[in-house]
Amino acid sequence: MPIKTFPLRGIKDSPPYLHDGRLPTLDDATEFFNIVLELRLTKKEKEAITAYMMFL
Ligand code: HEM
Repeated sequence: MPIKTFPLRGIKDSPPYLHDGRLPTLDDATEFFNIVLELRLTKKEKEAITAYMMFL
């Protein structure tokens, strides 16, 4: 079954994140996906993903 995702445009202006608001910041969102998806991102990679979402 496909997973339905949605655009992240304007995401920086609508904290907290996830349906239950468990993630206060986009840094937390990046770390959340790093852990649940087992991405093993470096600090630099995490900073880049957060910066990207801040820019959308
Ligand atoms: C580094 C990878 C990822 C980042 C940075 C990311 C970022 C985010 C953020 C910021 C949200 C919160 C949106 C909101 O509260 O309005 C979110 C929610 C969500 N993302 Fe991702 N995402 C990633 C990977 C994925 C992947 C791989 C999938 C699906 C295969 C996915 C599916 C979803 C779904 C279904 C939600 C809604 C969850 C909920 O509301 O509880 N994401 N994502």
